[in-house]
Amino acid sequence: MNIQNENTKLPVKAPGTGISVEGESSPSVNRISDLKCRELIAKAKDMLKYSYTPYSHFKVGAGLLTKAGKIYGGCNIENAAYGPSNCAERTAFFNAVSDGNLEFAAIAIVGGPEGEIKDFCPPCGVCRQVMREFCDPKNFYIILARSEADYWVYTLEELLPMSFGPENL
Ligand code: THU
Repeated sequence: MNIQNENTKLPVKAPGTGISVEGESSPSVNRISDLKCRELIAKAKDMLKYSYTPYSHFKVGAGLLTKAGKIYGGCNIENAAYGPSNCAERTAFFNAVSDGNLEFAAIAIVGGPEGEIKDFCPPCGVCRQVMREFCDPKNFYIILARSEADYWVYTLEELLPMSFGPENL
């Protein structure tokens, strides 16, 4: 785990903790604050109201932060044929990419039955692979939240180790 507590500089993984990632001297390494995490979680929660889930009734919302600082939302959108259904995370990515963005810093995800957030909602494998297309695995943060004050942050590499991406072709 390469998230660090600003005070100790030791790797920690603490829910609701503002994180600062090593790399003062490395401009390619992102940093994300507790405030930004909370903002992304609030966006993800707000997107739950658009979630279209007549089949599963399981609502998911996502807030996606571009490296330029824009935030895009996404919700899951189901389909009577089931297969064409789209997850909230992919909706957020496709929303952002179709608006001209290709560089991303972090995504927050919330979800639960009928939109009631009871626990963390980890991204499905397909969404992790879509993230992998656009994001540096070591440097893209996935925020799993139960509320603005209760969240965990992972890198994409942690949730999708040994991944296949564009540079493998
Ligand atoms: N879902 C998401 O939107 N994101 C995920 O990563 C997990 C699952 C949606 C798909 C479907 O509409 C519902 O949750 C139940 O699987």
